[in-house]
Amino acid sequence: MARLGFIGTGEITAAMVRGLAGQGHQILVSPRNAAVATALVAEVAGVAVAPNDQVVAGSDVVFLCLLARVAEEALPGLPFRAGQTIISVMVDAPLAKLRQLCAPVTDIAITIPLPPIAKGGCPLPVYPASPVVEALFGQRNPVIPLRSEAALSAHLGASALCSPILDQLLAAADWLAGFTGDRDAAETYIAAMIRGYLPARPAPGELAGALAKLSTGGGLNATLRAAMEPAKADLRRGLDGFRGRLQLAEKDGNRG
Ligand SMILES: NC(=O)c1ccc[n+]([C@@H]2O[C@H](COP(=O)([O-])OP(=O)(O)OC[C@H]3O[C@@H](n4cnc5c(N)ncnc54)[C@H](OP(=O)(O)O)[C@@H]3O)[C@@H](O)[C@H]2O)c1
Repeated sequence: MARLGFIGTGEITAAMVRGLAGQGHQILVSPRNAAVATALVAEVAGVAVAPNDQVVAGSDVVFLCLLARVAEEALPGLPFRAGQTIISVMVDAPLAKLRQLCAPVTDIAITIPLPPIAKGGCPLPVYPASPVVEALFGQRNPVIPLRSEAALSAHLGASALCSPILDQLLAAADWLAGFTGDRDAAETYIAAMIRGYLPARPAPGELAGALAKLSTGGGLNATLRAAMEPAKADLRRGLDGFRGRLQLAEKDGNRG
């Protein structure tokens, strides 16, 4: 059993707290957002609501789940103490900034939970390696310790892929429903089809292997892929657009 605190009770806190249900932890959440906090108290045993300062004072592990600009105002003055562990899930809050905001805490890690963590199976990149993240979430989610903060930042950028890919899938469902007249069935079909190619813990090379099998010359898959080839450059350009914000070097190791 651990004493866990969450500052900022929004979408990602709700998902993490639901993912921790049933493990016997004592969990304090801050009162904002009140509707989410109330729902978590009703749903998950061991959850209570407390003001930010009591969340920090009453927890051994504090999760920072605010927008970064809000954190700059909300964290200074909270009673952080040496020996605590801080886990930040915030974009735009590098470790150097977190050390300032949470002094005197030194055990600070950044991870990238996504809403599916509520059910498990969510990959959790983390830097630096965190025994706490592993202990709390590792049984149900693959934890991926990274070697540098830059690698963590690059994972943050890559995590933005979820939205455009879902958007593409929904566009395909719309197209399909235009012929079948059944939008729900179209979405179910597209989601199930894609899920079949995405096992929970894919082995290295599995995606490339699946793609190779879908590359018969003149086949529907290869034809559509060729038509969408320009989208790959758009994707790369969009990801490269994060370099300044995520403080990524101008060139990474793989690209010379
Ligand atoms: N959602 C995701 O999938 C995801 C994934 C990875 C990382 N993140 C990161 O996680 C952080 C939170 O994201 P989110 O999607 O959970 O955002 P969110 O739903 O907007 O949650 C943020 C919460 O912070 C609360 N808040 C505002 N000021 C506060 C204060 N002074 N003290 C305590 N709480 C305060 C807000 O309450 P009110 O509603 O009352 O203003 C809101 O409920 C962001 O840095 C985001 O980049 C999110």
